[in-house]
Amino acid sequence: MRECVPTSEVAFAVNDVSYRYLEVPALAGLSMRVTRGERVALLGANGSGKSTLLRLLAGLCFPEHGDISFYGEPLTEQRLENEEFFYRFRRRVGMVFQNPDIQLFNPSVFDEVAFGPLQLQWPGDQVRRRVGETLDLMGIAHLRDRAPHRLSGGEKKRVALASVLVLDPEVLLLDEPSAALDPGSQAQIVEFLVSWRDRSKTVITATHDLDTLEDIADRCYVLENGAVACEGTPLAVLHDVALLERTRLVRPHHHVHREGVTQPHPHLHRHHSD
Ligand SMILES: Nc1ncnc2c1ncn2[C@@H]1O[C@H](COP(=O)(O)OP(=O)(O)OP(=O)(O)O)[C@@H](O)[C@H]1O
Ligand SMILES: [Mg+2]
Repeated sequence: MRECVPTSEVAFAVNDVSYRYLEVPALAGLSMRVTRGERVALLGANGSGKSTLLRLLAGLCFPEHGDISFYGEPLTEQRLENEEFFYRFRRRVGMVFQNPDIQLFNPSVFDEVAFGPLQLQWPGDQVRRRVGETLDLMGIAHLRDRAPHRLSGGEKKRVALASVLVLDPEVLLLDEPSAALDPGSQAQIVEFLVSWRDRSKTVITATHDLDTLEDIADRCYVLENGAVACEGTPLAVLHDVALLERTRLVRPHHHVHREGVTQPHPHLHRHHSD
């Protein structure tokens, strides 16, 4: 059905992309499509290629083979050398890295979150207001004068998220955005993702968290050895136990049933409050 989507509605088209880090292959013939306003989850075992794919979508590295386009425009090194395209792309697409240390380089949390708006030459009072709002939203106003590299892992992650959300980009690439966060902060990230169900943003999230999958994504891709092993709705993927086991997204395990019998159980556990 998605074949009928007009090009103007295809945010990312990834065709047969391969990528390697020196001799380490990371992506091998991967194809995917993300349309405007979709929330897509990337699933897969450690090393399956999720972060590499997000880096390519962010235009931070480029395929060795195959091609990627963003709303019909080829996302190539050459194209990003064009200043106008570079700033337009960077303005529209924000990325939160798996490791916040890569992202944080300013002397204070305030400066970190203000960096993007200042680069875009927003007026000073607008920068102060918007940064203040974003620090409040992320619950990190009390950290505003602290050095980002001296914060805890979860605090760093929230600063990294704030430094992207402050610009309100229309496309978000989120690499395990709630990993290392406490349950309250995790729930807040999930709330953001749920609120974007209204198609106001295009969001691609790499995650290992199957419990929130149906809340945060309309569609998911399961990656295996740098290629797509499966694509479908969260519900369809969650029901494919053989796929989940093969791609190490769940593990067979033993647990004790009410009757007191211990059984090996090759099924997915989901925890609901009801
Ligand atoms: N900087 C690097 N140098 C060399 N190899 C790398 C580098 N980054 C990733 N790789 C390799 O590329 C492959 C894909 O890694 P990637 O980080 O994309 O996986 P991932 O799905 O994000 O894993 P995780 O769930 O652990 O975050 C792996 O084999 C990994 O070892
Ligand atoms: Mg990763």
